[in-house]
Amino acid sequence: MIKLADVAKSYGDVHALGPVDLDLPRGGITALVGPNGAGKSTMLTIIGRLLGADAGTVHVAGMDVTTAKSRQLAKTLAILRQENHFVARLTVRQLVSLGRFPHSQGRLTTECVAAVDRALEFLDLTALQARYLDELSGGQRQRAYVAMVLAQDTEYALLDEPLNNLDMQHAVAMMAQLRRAADELDKTVVLVIHDINFAAAYADRIVAMTNGRIRYVGSPREVMTPDVLSDVFDTPVEVIDHPTHPLAVYYRLS
Ligand SMILES: Nc1ncnc2c1ncn2[C@@H]1O[C@H](COP(=O)(O)OP(=O)(O)OP(=O)(O)O)[C@@H](O)[C@H]1O
Ligand SMILES: [Mg+2]
Repeated sequence: MIKLADVAKSYGDVHALGPVDLDLPRGGITALVGPNGAGKSTMLTIIGRLLGADAGTVHVAGMDVTTAKSRQLAKTLAILRQENHFVARLTVRQLVSLGRFPHSQGRLTTECVAAVDRALEFLDLTALQARYLDELSGGQRQRAYVAMVLAQDTEYALLDEPLNNLDMQHAVAMMAQLRRAADELDKTVVLVIHDINFAAAYADRIVAMTNGRIRYVGSPREVMTPDVLSDVFDTPVEVIDHPTHPLAVYYRLS
């Protein structure tokens, strides 16, 4: 499980997060939602140890992320950042292979090669594997970074806006893959997502944040109400009760 206790973070005099407490069980998909600047990326990167908190503690799978050994943590948790993706002169396959580093230390085993093949296949990148990253479209590159995270084959995957730049088909395919990873491989997936309807359709729980605080935690049916969504996003939202999941409508409402 992921456990945050009293976690807070400021960037200089910008208060970005907390204090927040959060308990996420092992398994399933959690969607972090909320307006721009709510603290979603800050919280996710703190969980993934790419950013230190000013206060509080973070545990993932029982490990304190601030003191856990890097290699051990890298075998447990993989994270995709929202930005600052490096575009080195790497091919798609080379990038995805980097995800195996915690397992292989640079020497790819047969198992590593199979994991890379699987991740490329999952993200529909097999035909593009020899392309350099700077020769891809934005959405193709986004898929390559997600493939790198999946190739790491960790119990926990943290993904900051994995649907960025994806077309409809590939957005649905990615969410379906993440759903499968949770259901069939027992992975724990935490992702930041702006399209609340994707969260409702694929996530087990939604964590809604505003102003550095966690405001609501619950199942899509619990969080997807007009009152909650209008409050979180400070904009009028209607909710339609589609048979499989609730659907938020927020366009052209007067
Ligand atoms: N490096 C930084 N230096 C200063 N302030 C920052 C920095 N990174 C984030 N912030 C501020 O911290 C707050 C939270 O930012 P964060 O990136 O966590 O938001 P977010 O919920 O991920 O937003 P978005 O949906 O736009 O990605 C914002 O007020 C932001 O301006
Ligand atoms: Mg963000």
